[in-house]
Amino acid sequence: MSAPYYVTTPIYYVNDQPHIGHAYTTLACDVLARFMRLEGRKVMFLTGTDEHGQKVEKAAAAAGKDPQQFVDEVSQSFRALTSAMNFSNDDFIRTTEPRHTLCCQALWEAVAARKSPQGRPNIYLEKYGGWYAVRDEAYYAEDELTVGADGKKRAPSGAEVDWVEEPSYFFRLSDWQEPLLKFYADNADCIGPDSRRNEVTSFVKSGLRDLSISRTTFKWGIPVPGDPAHVMYVWFDALANYLTAVGYPDTRSRAFSTFWPADLHMVGKDILRFHAVYWPAFLMAAGVDPAKRVFAHGWWTNEGQKISKSLGNVIDPLALIERYGLDPVRYFLLREVPFGQDGDFSHRQMVHRINSDLANDYGNLAQRVLSMIAKNCEARVPQPGAFAPEDEALMTQVPRALAEAIRPAMQTQAFHESLDAIWAVVRAGNRYVDEQAPWALKKTDPARMGTVLYALAETIRQIAIVTQPFMPQASARMLDQLAVGEDARTLAHLDAKYRLAAGTALPTPSGVFPRYVEEAHAG
Ligand code: MSP
Repeated sequence: MSAPYYVTTPIYYVNDQPHIGHAYTTLACDVLARFMRLEGRKVMFLTGTDEHGQKVEKAAAAAGKDPQQFVDEVSQSFRALTSAMNFSNDDFIRTTEPRHTLCCQALWEAVAARKSPQGRPNIYLEKYGGWYAVRDEAYYAEDELTVGADGKKRAPSGAEVDWVEEPSYFFRLSDWQEPLLKFYADNADCIGPDSRRNEVTSFVKSGLRDLSISRTTFKWGIPVPGDPAHVMYVWFDALANYLTAVGYPDTRSRAFSTFWPADLHMVGKDILRFHAVYWPAFLMAAGVDPAKRVFAHGWWTNEGQKISKSLGNVIDPLALIERYGLDPVRYFLLREVPFGQDGDFSHRQMVHRINSDLANDYGNLAQRVLSMIAKNCEARVPQPGAFAPEDEALMTQVPRALAEAIRPAMQTQAFHESLDAIWAVVRAGNRYVDEQAPWALKKTDPARMGTVLYALAETIRQIAIVTQPFMPQASARMLDQLAVGEDARTLAHLDAKYRLAAGTALPTPSGVFPRYVEEAHAG
């Protein structure tokens, strides 16, 4: 039995409508979840909404709504995004659910009940005085701030900060510096990409300040056990969602013992510190193993500009799907930019990818082969003769790419490399068609034509199997056109023993990847 796989997205603040950044993080997780399922692994893929804290409370007030009513509504639009993007999440958690309150309070109590490595209480009560950015839901030290042209102090993220003074419980993060450094040193893969790992390590090496983990000046949060005048700092509450979903505090539950520690927390680069520093420290303090890996991806800009509500250039994922189609959007987001780096969204590049990679390369290959089979082979998988070395070479390319490039790339979240390796086969398929010229063989050597078309159809079957995680609907249509049964689409089915059966009747082919024609979409 292969190992279970637990992958999580950040849970999204419900202060606003979902945008491309949200869709991106979850898409990456969806592709991994689908890939691991095709590997035969038992997968738990979690996403959800982060519904407490000052930012959400303020957004509710601005909308003139009661916070619970407000979060119920906005959370719904994130749920709608998961279906619009065809995400295969196994759970959708909301931090206002009772199961989550239970988990957070238990986690708090576990941390409070244990001592730090220096033998001091992990949690202590004191007065907090410092800067807080509601937009980031984060505390900042004076020396991290800059003063804008308007004279206002700002966090490195650009968010405005307010001076906050109130009684607060603190987490003794400073005592966890050494265990954290040891954890990073002992677990080479615990933070990706490597540049981020170095960043986090030097941040921790530079010394850690204790962290304020409760607030008293607003109410919209989970009460601190034994002191309900305090609500938990929203990040303590939010991070715990990853445990809630696997049944914590019941560490003997099936879900917890199967899936914890999580294999991967996928996050954007802006929230890496919370996941790679605070979260493993909270967990170690509670006596729970930290997750195996956190990966920080980059940010999207829109036609070269930072995406922001005030610039009015927020990209609505639903509008993108409407315009370009779902699977092309999924493909583009993971193909265009090396995962981990920042990327720019542009209409031109999107159209280029659709027309060149999808329509010209892949779509054309499939269309040429399937229509020749329909016309010349009685719409059945042709009977191959003896395979020539070049036929075998083509038909073994996908399994080799899987072992040598695709699987290792998925393990390091290098989606662009996986797609590169798949497209190398697509291009090899197109070269093979041109070289073998089956249309000419039709007259000179029909038996050889059958062999060539067989090798091509088989290669398309394999390509469609490995593109499933990225483009589930288009790949399913492709596999339907090759009459591949739904139970014969896992990665194990790339094996030569599952090659297409000659003589199988095939449905009438229809194009899977249409070109994007500018005029048809104008206005
Ligand atoms: N609620 C916290 C996460 C708590 S997890 C325990 C949060 N939510 S968020 O809604 O603000 O952001 C969620 C994710 O969207 C982050 O990973 C963030 O990096 C990502 N993105 C937001 N804007 C983005 C872009 N413009 N581009 C790519 N991703 C971006 O943070």
